[in-house]
Amino acid sequence: MPAIPSYPDDLFTDEALLDAHRHYRALRELAAVVFLEAHDMYAVCRYADARAVLADADTFCSGKGVGLNEAVNATMGGANLIMTDGELHARLRDHVGRGLTPRALRSMREAVERRADDLVAGLVANGSFDAVADLARVLPLSVVPDLVGWPAGGRERLLEWASASFDVLGPPNERAERAIPVVRSMFEYTTKTASEGTMLAGSLGAAVIEAAARGELEPAQVPSLLIAYIAPSLDTTISAIGAAVWLLASHPEQWRLLRSKPALVPNAFNEVVRLESPIRAFTRVTTTSTAIDGYEIEAGSRIAVFFGAANRDRRRFARPETFDVSRDNAAAHLGFGYGTHGCAGQGLARIEAHSVLQALVQHVDHFELGPAVRGVNNLISSWASVPVSAHPSREMGSV
Ligand code: HEM
Repeated sequence: MPAIPSYPDDLFTDEALLDAHRHYRALRELAAVVFLEAHDMYAVCRYADARAVLADADTFCSGKGVGLNEAVNATMGGANLIMTDGELHARLRDHVGRGLTPRALRSMREAVERRADDLVAGLVANGSFDAVADLARVLPLSVVPDLVGWPAGGRERLLEWASASFDVLGPPNERAERAIPVVRSMFEYTTKTASEGTMLAGSLGAAVIEAAARGELEPAQVPSLLIAYIAPSLDTTISAIGAAVWLLASHPEQWRLLRSKPALVPNAFNEVVRLESPIRAFTRVTTTSTAIDGYEIEAGSRIAVFFGAANRDRRRFARPETFDVSRDNAAAHLGFGYGTHGCAGQGLARIEAHSVLQALVQHVDHFELGPAVRGVNNLISSWASVPVSAHPSREMGSV
């Protein structure tokens, strides 16, 4: 069997994170699987191989952790929904998934649409706003904590906790080190909240606590299930909404197309997640020796699947670097993962993002983009700031 090519660069320095796609292009073109010398693990960056790894949870397991930091994987692996396998994963996923099915979310769709519309109308009336601070962060924070039933007094650190949860899963660099005490305080607060039973009545969090009281879950599983609602649901959606405004404001012809055909909103959102995939990578560990595209991989090897790299693979997407809201296969992206661990909250993320895009289509004629600044997080690709001037649509302007 051929030797697996190596790649020397650290992919998680500030510089590399800000220019990630340059590395992804190089890795994709090297081979289907490449050894990352700086991180002591393999990388899969081509679409077909990434999808195949995600689809085969028996060979590529999550129970030994899905981060790039062995110490963190050893602590969290096997305990956390996203880091479990088989029957345990199915049982935990059933509990988390109950409140996130399309049916369960149907009743909140209208309220989210109204909130997004009011928010966008107010911002457009002001003329200029930061699409990250004033929009992308505001909508999820006005939706998720209520849905999950987070106590009103414990909300001010949610963004810091969510962001740290992704930094801590990156490789053991300074960013991950700084995140450790923050994640610890998130676990402490959540454990205390679970034991005091202070989640808001009728919420998803309260349902988890009730399931434990009925003996369907072990008490020790409750805090990590509550975190499964909070930690992956904020930075991801914030990243996607920020990226959506940045892409649409910097591609006026795509904005005009979307405004002329608002039915394209769901496809446009898929295209945003394809091109600017919010989660950079998660890992798996091989349970047996296996092969990827003819390269032999030993049992016990850690493999990072780079979602954003796979989503720009020219073997799957024509003109992969082009933003095209009418792309016919945008929905095939792997930005929400794939297979048994595919995103449990994508229905919620879609409701939030579609509501924002619909409201923008309704209220904005065109944007002028200011100097946007990328964010730096080990595992989330995001914008720190996307300043825009939004010119009201004629119907709105004349009101
Ligand atoms: C644009 C927004 C989002 C993106 C791009 C995203 C992306 C992802 C990805 C790539 C995975 C796969 C993990 C893996 O294969 O190891 C995942 C899993 C997950 N996501 Fe999301 N996510 C988003 C929003 C949300 C929201 C709003 C929630 C709300 C609760 C959520 C909850 C989860 C959970 C619980 C899992 C673990 C599923 C499992 O292991 O079975 N996500 N997400």
